[in-house]
Amino acid sequence: MESVQAIKQRFGIIGNTPSLNRAIEKSIQVAPTDISVLVTGESGVGKESIPKIIHQLSHRKHNKYIAVNCGAIPEGTIDSELFGHEKGAFTGATQTRNGYFEVADGGTIFLDEVGELPLTTQVRLLRVLENGEFIKVGSSKVQKTNVRIVAATNVNMFEAIEKEKFREDLYYRLSTVDIHLPPLRERREDIHLLFRKFASDFALKYKMPTVKLTDNAVQVLTKHRWGGNVRQLRNIAEQLSVLEQDRTISADTLHGYLPTSGTNLPAVVKTSKSESDFSSEREILYKVLFDMKSDLNDLKKLTMELMKGGNIKDVEKDQEHLIQKIYGEDDNESEVYEEPVQETEVLSIPEHTATPEEAVSVQDKYHFAEEIQEEETLSLHDKELELIKKSLERHNGKRKLAAAELGISERTLYRKIKQFDL
Ligand SMILES: Nc1ncnc2c1ncn2[C@@H]1O[C@H](COP(=O)(O)OP(=O)(O)O)[C@@H](O)[C@H]1O
Ligand SMILES: [Mg+2]
Repeated sequence: MESVQAIKQRFGIIGNTPSLNRAIEKSIQVAPTDISVLVTGESGVGKESIPKIIHQLSHRKHNKYIAVNCGAIPEGTIDSELFGHEKGAFTGATQTRNGYFEVADGGTIFLDEVGELPLTTQVRLLRVLENGEFIKVGSSKVQKTNVRIVAATNVNMFEAIEKEKFREDLYYRLSTVDIHLPPLRERREDIHLLFRKFASDFALKYKMPTVKLTDNAVQVLTKHRWGGNVRQLRNIAEQLSVLEQDRTISADTLHGYLPTSGTNLPAVVKTSKSESDFSSEREILYKVLFDMKSDLNDLKKLTMELMKGGNIKDVEKDQEHLIQKIYGEDDNESEVYEEPVQETEVLSIPEHTATPEEAVSVQDKYHFAEEIQEEETLSLHDKELELIKKSLERHNGKRKLAAAELGISERTLYRKIKQFDL
């Protein structure tokens, strides 16, 4: 049996923490059997090496190894990808297609992000695991296959089971042996080792001298949280290798590359439930969008005040809080803004809906600078009218499509059609 060290070398795995060694040892032990293995661990910890080790050290190594990212395949096509389909099974199925379970007969299939599998696919998968049987989409013929399954997940499967997103029976079938890869922050002694390896790889790749860390920078590196684990460490090593002129990296320089410092983006804080990469990114994007929307509302309000009053000094005084919020120092970023966010819709300028404060004076909003206001309102009306007309024409009067194109709700569109008498 190959030693753990030899396997690490062969598969380019760096690190010497007992927990990592144990995971590799377990892989070596289960490899010659046909036992299903579930690899667990946060995103970026290196789960993808495990099924490769298992396949290469098994009697299946001369047959196919297929890695499938279950989270990346659309729900509508995943059954056909995995199990194949018959000609005519659905629109566009012009040919019979063999799925991965047929192609990999005698080999290994790695189901990455298995927690993302739709429930209907889970039923099919359970059947293959239980007796090697599957049926192509659109067929009634039962086929046999002999495939070894290694699956991986970064979601908490018990939570998924509780929420009825994952079948419990399938979970137990898949996880006959569980191989857990710990997050990087629980393998601190490996961090600098990994960094040096990546730095030297990137120096070769980009034909530049290898970057080195000062002692203080090493401290910063090893104390960092590494929410994105080895993948994130590798990215940072690459950025430093490409961007830094001075090849000796100080703690300060390194800080600039670590996500919690020097950026206004909220850090991805993992709760006990480890989410997939995508959901965290989505959350950040939502947060940024909400912040922008809130800023936009503030600006609108401020502009309205200026237009109403005209006296800049007064507005400055009255709206100090708002001005501070929009233009002020970023120090109080953590402060939660509690004013309700108004619903804004594209093209709704002429129909400006008043906030409670504005409502009092909304009537006299046309008393100042009348001409300009009139003119602007008119031309905006025209533009809006034109846009709506064109969009409706383009979509043969289909309101749903036009509304989507204009970025407004169908109801708003309907209202505008009535308003403009279209
Ligand atoms: N122990 C390790 N030694 C060297 N590279 C590693 C190690 N662990 C992870 N990596 C690298 O980090 C990146 C992410 O690993 P991957 O297996 O894709 O993570 P996961 O599937 O767990 O999200 C890959 O580029 C991989 O080569
Ligand atoms: Mg992965």
